[in-house]
Amino acid sequence: MINGERTIQRPMRWGMVGGGRTGQVGYKHRTGALRDGTYQLLAGAFDLDAARGRDFGMKLGVAHDRCYTTYQDLIAGEKDREDGVDVVSVATPNFTHFEITKALLEAGIHVICEKPLFFTVDECEIVAKLAAEKNLIVGVTYGFTGHPLVHQMAAMVAKGVLGDIRIVDMQYTHGFNAGDDDSADAVAWRTNPATAGSTFVLGDIGTHLYYLSEVVLPHMKIEKLLCDRKAFIPSRAPLEDHATVLMHYDNGARGHLWVSSVNAGNMGSQRYRFVGSKASVEWSDAHPDQLVYQVQGEPESIMHHGMPYLENESLAADRMGALHTEGLGDSWSNIYLWIAQAIDAKFRGDETFLKTHHYPGIVAGTEGVRWLENCVRSADAGAAWVEYA
Ligand SMILES: NC(=O)c1ccc[n+]([C@@H]2O[C@H](COP(=O)([O-])OP(=O)(O)OC[C@H]3O[C@@H](n4cnc5c(N)ncnc54)[C@H](O)[C@@H]3O)[C@@H](O)[C@H]2O)c1
Repeated sequence: MINGERTIQRPMRWGMVGGGRTGQVGYKHRTGALRDGTYQLLAGAFDLDAARGRDFGMKLGVAHDRCYTTYQDLIAGEKDREDGVDVVSVATPNFTHFEITKALLEAGIHVICEKPLFFTVDECEIVAKLAAEKNLIVGVTYGFTGHPLVHQMAAMVAKGVLGDIRIVDMQYTHGFNAGDDDSADAVAWRTNPATAGSTFVLGDIGTHLYYLSEVVLPHMKIEKLLCDRKAFIPSRAPLEDHATVLMHYDNGARGHLWVSSVNAGNMGSQRYRFVGSKASVEWSDAHPDQLVYQVQGEPESIMHHGMPYLENESLAADRMGALHTEGLGDSWSNIYLWIAQAIDAKFRGDETFLKTHHYPGIVAGTEGVRWLENCVRSADAGAAWVEYA
């Protein structure tokens, strides 16, 4: 159980690029980072509107002279300070991730970047090489994969409780873009290939599904895939507001995944069902405390987070205890904690720890982008089956 006790030598000196007053995801980063005193927010270039960003930063308690106008100013101001930031989170629109991450790493600063990490696998590989040369960590904020019941599913699969995995069924849909008004900033950049990349909902929400499935099923690799995508609002083409992906895995399993932002009336739900030869598990963020466990021929059971009958891997990630709800904020705190532990291991030169320490890093970010590239290749070939490359 995580109780806030310090597990690293000292708090990370932390900065943010983006995530300003009007940003959608910034508060989730601060919820994750500032929970246990694992990070101290000391600097930021929070907003494209520099005055608003400074005002916001100061209201978060950041000193006036460390609320910077641009990320370049942040790097220039922080890199030679004795108390300069160790790590910076990048919570800006997709098209800026590569340039900002690269500049931070070149300045010797660890990075925590939003998904989808970059536009191409080539860019991911450039950054992976740079991070290795500089001995720095790149973390990626796949927010819900810190949840203890995700790790319960992973442990049950690893221990063979479900038998051989046959079916992977995932859905992340909402209806917020069912209408055709894309004028809000956060929608405008998401529906423009120049700022979003080669996908809309596949990258925006589908990468969450894909990474979570990698956490639960690390032994299974996709062999081929078919992606059918559509823009129900035509102005969003060539990007999609709806997609279905079929996947064949190397163990013979079949996967299907549905992402959509035009699922009218749906308030946003991710749902995962992993079906094995003996039993199935199903988890959804609509009921995050509960894991449905179904053994063929037996009554269905509901496992509750934090209960002693769960696997140690799940209990180790639990914060609230069984009597209270464990949700998205708790999960983000775990992701931030695990990334801080990785950076701390770098400080200590402890590569042995890093070999087995699990957190969403550059590989997770790269594999998300690789999955997107395969989806786009298939969709652009007319929803054809493509060998996974
Ligand atoms: N992990 C998750 O669960 C999750 C959830 C939502 C968004 N995201 C990702 O987070 C990123 C941001 O999404 P959002 O919805 O918060 O976007 P947004 O449009 O709501 O906010 C973007 C923020 O970045 C600032 N900004 C833009 N360019 C900047 C720059 N060059 N320097 C400094 N600040 C800059 C804007 O002023 C704004 O504060 C995207 O990559 C998105 O895919 C992830």
